[in-house]
Amino acid sequence: MRGTAVVTGASAGLGRIYADRLARRGYDLLLVARRADRLAELATELEAQYPIRAEVLVADLGEARDLDRVATRLGEDEAITCLVNNAGTSTLGPLSGSKASDESAMINVNVTALTRLTVAVLERFRRLSSGTIVNVGSVLGFHSLPISAIYSGTKGYVTNFTRGLQEELAGTGIVVQLVAPAATATDIWDISGVPLSNLDPDTVMTAGDCVDASMAGLALGESVTLTSVEDIQLFSDYETARLKLLSASQTSRPASRYNLSKQGTA
Ligand SMILES: NC(=O)c1ccc[n+]([C@@H]2O[C@H](COP(=O)([O-])OP(=O)(O)OC[C@H]3O[C@@H](n4cnc5c(N)ncnc54)[C@H](OP(=O)(O)O)[C@@H]3O)[C@@H](O)[C@H]2O)c1
Repeated sequence: MRGTAVVTGASAGLGRIYADRLARRGYDLLLVARRADRLAELATELEAQYPIRAEVLVADLGEARDLDRVATRLGEDEAITCLVNNAGTSTLGPLSGSKASDESAMINVNVTALTRLTVAVLERFRRLSSGTIVNVGSVLGFHSLPISAIYSGTKGYVTNFTRGLQEELAGTGIVVQLVAPAATATDIWDISGVPLSNLDPDTVMTAGDCVDASMAGLALGESVTLTSVEDIQLFSDYETARLKLLSASQTSRPASRYNLSKQGTA
């Protein structure tokens, strides 16, 4: 018995594929997003294709009341064994002139909802000493562009939130995976204001390949899955440099370059 996997943002893109791949692996599904018609269609399709049950939970995860409702359900439903925090949104562009509604949509969905839903399942997962949490971040969680300050900021949060959670849950039996895709062919690009057709097709993965890589990373026990990075040594080097930097910061003295009086500039 696999239990139920919750997939947020299951009405399109990566979420739709996660739902399929999890159903294929025998999970019942709880499909969350705003577009009820798409979710209902997917649930019907997956129930016809696999011996599973798929339930639809229509919610706007950017709205506090809907998020409360979903979090309560996730906290109470004993069948839930897996949470895929996939729902996300993006508006790309310079900060000057950005719309408050776009800013809050990104922060509410990418950050607040992911946090709240994770916390919602955590107590029960801890009690069971098992459960799987997949947080969909982005390579832009490690990098920022002139047009991605808020989106990268939200995905940087997903990176650090997930890494911290992995530290907190080490040895508990709960599996937490950070997935960091690069450009993938989904609607998010058109939604973001940068049409997919603007990208070099050689740099864009299909949603199917991306989710299959993510699921393979999970099966391999990876804590961080960089779906499109061939040379994984690059990530090891990045981790080594990150830890060295942290270690180098653990001192009571300001770095000597900030001793302005000695340099005669004070
Ligand atoms: N595609 C890429 O290049 C790429 C790269 C790196 C990371 N990612 C990440 O991958 C994840 C999936 O994105 P995608 O590429 O599959 O985009 P997508 O095709 O636009 O799908 C986004 C999903 O999130 C849901 N969603 C958005 N706002 C929501 C809200 N307020 N409440 C509930 N659900 C909401 C959408 O459903 P409704 O509209 O029906 O609500 C949809 O199902 C995101 O976290 C994204 O940041 C994508």
